[in-house]
Amino acid sequence: MKDITILGIFVADISFSGDKIPITGETILGDSYNIGPGGKGCNQAIAISRLGGKVSFISKLGDDEYGKLAIKSLEKDNIDTSNIIISKIDKTGVAGIHIDKNTGKNAITVIRGAPSNLTIEEIDTNIIKGSKIFLTQLEVPLDVTLHCLKIAKENDLINILNPAPACKLSDDFFNLVDYFTPNETEAEFYSGIRIKNENDAKESARKIVKMGIKNVIITLGEKGLLYSNGKEEIYIKASQVKAIDTTGAGDAFNGSFSLALSQGKKIKECLDLANKVAGLSTTKLGAGDSMPTLKDIF
Ligand code: RIB
Repeated sequence: MKDITILGIFVADISFSGDKIPITGETILGDSYNIGPGGKGCNQAIAISRLGGKVSFISKLGDDEYGKLAIKSLEKDNIDTSNIIISKIDKTGVAGIHIDKNTGKNAITVIRGAPSNLTIEEIDTNIIKGSKIFLTQLEVPLDVTLHCLKIAKENDLINILNPAPACKLSDDFFNLVDYFTPNETEAEFYSGIRIKNENDAKESARKIVKMGIKNVIITLGEKGLLYSNGKEEIYIKASQVKAIDTTGAGDAFNGSFSLALSQGKKIKECLDLANKVAGLSTTKLGAGDSMPTLKDIF
C-alpha cells in the first residue's frame, strides 16, 4: 500500500515556446517545441515520487504510443501503475501548451482522451483504503472524483482537492474536502473575488472557508501563497527564481504539499516545502519532467 493515492489524468504535453502566446486569429513563429509527460495527476505523482514518497496513480490510457510514453515515464519515476486502466477504444490524451519564453507563463488546452470515459465500476478502490492521503483534481469525470473522495473519507484519509480546471461543484464536494488548493484564477471562480493582492486573497479564502471547506490554500504564482482555515492565516512570498516555464508549478506544489502532510509535518513546514518545490519546477522546461528531486532541494 502507498501513502498517497492520486486519481487523475496523464496526457502528452506538446509545448510550443516563443516570444509570446498568440492571440485569437494570430500566427507567430515560435522557437522550439517539446513532448513530455503532463496531466495534473501524473505531474503530482512524479513530484511526490521524486521527493521520495510512495504513490499510486489511478488513471486511464489508450493502447497507443502516448500510452506507452505514460507507462515508461511513470515507471521510471517509481510510481505504482497497477491501477491504470488501458482502453482498447479511446486514445491517450494530449495537451497543447503555448509558453511565453520571457515570462514562463502559459495557456493550455487539454484533450483528456481515455480518462474522459473513466467509470466508477472500472476503479478498484481498495488502493485508496490503504493510503493516508487521497489527492485529486477536476480532470476526470466528476462522478468518479466524488465517489473516490467519499471512499477516502469513509476510510479516514485526508482529502486534498486541487480544483482545476475550475468547474461548478456540488456541496457534497465541499463537505468531503480537507484541503482545497485553487490557484488565483480558480479561487476567483469559486469565490467571485478578483485577486490582485494579499488582501483580496484573504477575502477570497475566507469566503471559500465559509462554503464548508476546512483548509484553503490559494497559490498566487509570483505573488506567493495564502493559507486559511478560518482562524489561522499564513501568507508566504514566492521563492525568488528565474521562471522559464510555469507549466506544472501548481502540480509541484500539490504533490510536495501532500507528501509533507503524509509525513506528519506542521502546516507551515508543508507550505514552505511546497512553495520551494513549485518555484524550482518553473526553472526547467516541461511539466512532469520539471519536477525537482530531493537533491535539488536540500
Ligand atoms: O497543471 C499543468 C497540466 O495541466 C499540464 O501538464 C497539462 O497537461 C494540464 O493537465
